Amino acid sequence: MKPTRLLAIISLSAITAGIVVTAMADDDRRYSDSWGAKTLPGVAPVDLPLYQDECGSCHMAYQPGLLPAPSWEKLMSGLDDHFGENAELPENERQTILNYLLDNAAGRSNYRASNKLMRNIRGAPIRITELPYFVHEHREIPSRLVTGNPKVRSLSYCNACHTQANKGSYDEHQIYIPGYGRYDD
Ligand code: HEC
Ligand code: HEC
Repeated sequence: MKPTRLLAIISLSAITAGIVVTAMADDDRRYSDSWGAKTLPGVAPVDLPLYQDECGSCHMAYQPGLLPAPSWEKLMSGLDDHFGENAELPENERQTILNYLLDNAAGRSNYRASNKLMRNIRGAPIRITELPYFVHEHREIPSRLVTGNPKVRSLSYCNACHTQANKGSYDEHQIYIPGYGRYDD
């Protein structure tokens, strides 16, 4: 290889490295919010049938990337009183599901909605609907369309409005609120 060409390659890598370092510095501030082109939309879909079956009967099986690891840990250690319901599991199943949730929790994958949901979290909230980013995104929906709407009941039923929620997609163009229609703001 000609020396000039080698030099060109070296300086190009230096520039690339510089960009990466700048991007990482940004990440520190905004919680892995901008890993750049590799970020995927929404959250990773559920891919464990056991989880789908055991945690998807009363509400949709919330994708692991909707809560950070400490939240899942806390939620999974209180299944005997799960929001007033008994959702206890045999210990081996609880362990398998817990590991699955922890491995794929928000902050451990590179999906845009997961990264946004991590913003400004304090402690280990066990409701997705109490995460600051979630609250901010849903603050303008009138309660008559949510709690006053028998086809929705509460914001916990994501798939009542997000038509592709079961696939991990929360795209604003796929929202349809029952009794109201498409939601365009
Ligand atoms: C027996 C029914 C039942 C089962 C089984 C169940 N849940 Fe729930 N879950 C509920 C109810 C009821 C709520 C509260 C919904 C509401 O406030 O409207 C809830 C809420 C939640 C929330 C908080 C949703 C929010 O408001 O942000 C999470 C997270 C959750 N469940 C995860 C799980 C996981 C993980 C499992 C499996 C280990 C599971 N659930 C199994 C009934 C159940
Ligand atoms: C009553 C209907 C309704 C329910 C139920 C609901 N959402 Fe939403 N969601 C909306 C609306 C409306 C918006 C705001 C869209 C906008 O303003 O662009 C939104 C926005 C979002 C966004 C931001 C979209 C983006 O592009 O950044 C996410 C993520 C999201 N919702 C996740 C959830 C999850 C997870 C649940 C369940 C725990 C849920 N939503 C329950 C209606 C709903």
